[in-house]
Amino acid sequence: MKLVILIFGTPGVGKTTLANLLAKKLQLEHIELLEVVEKYGYFLGYDVFRDALIIDEYKVTNYLEEKTKSGSSFCYSGVEIFMDPSLVNLVLVLHCEGRVLRKRLKARGYSSEKIEENIAAENLGIVEGIVKDHYPPDKVFTLDTTDATPQETLKSALNIINEVISFKI
Ligand SMILES: Nc1ncnc2c1ncn2[C@@H]1O[C@H](COP(=O)(O)OP(=O)(O)OP(=O)(O)O)[C@@H](O)[C@H]1O
Ligand SMILES: [Mg+2]
Repeated sequence: MKLVILIFGTPGVGKTTLANLLAKKLQLEHIELLEVVEKYGYFLGYDVFRDALIIDEYKVTNYLEEKTKSGSSFCYSGVEIFMDPSLVNLVLVLHCEGRVLRKRLKARGYSSEKIEENIAAENLGIVEGIVKDHYPPDKVFTLDTTDATPQETLKSALNIINEVISFKI
């Protein structure tokens, strides 16, 4: 069965970690946004203020949709991408409370300004709101990684996948 899973969330909530574990468990390709952006040059420029690439979301979305239409299964992790919802099986939005997110982002060497900005975005549920505006409610699930280990988060994600798409794991 073809399986397309999208994983979104504020920086540091655990998207890449979960996507790697899921991909291994379900033998799916893991598509990490920044890898694709760098490999195919899907960016419009560089934002010096944000210290980040300006992603060409149109090209990334097109790449993912074409991949899906050609029959590929994959698990995507990265910033919100708005694919045709009918091509997607499941959307996972990860969360992490500020007290833990602060530690994770600090460990990465983020500035305190950037850390607090991300915690504020997380507290407001910005990513979840944007994602739920686009994808249908029966495909969007949230997972809290705050006090979970990566293996526990994997287990919760597998339970959701089993329930929602009756995928034999
Ligand atoms: N339950 C958990 N699930 C996932 N990651 C966890 C969990 N608990 C702790 N972590 C840790 O959180 C940190 C951030 O994880 P990760 O790099 O996967 O986040 P991310 O959402 O991909 O961030 P970014 O948006 O910057 O790519 C890692 O050090 C990871 O080990
Ligand atoms: Mg990541």
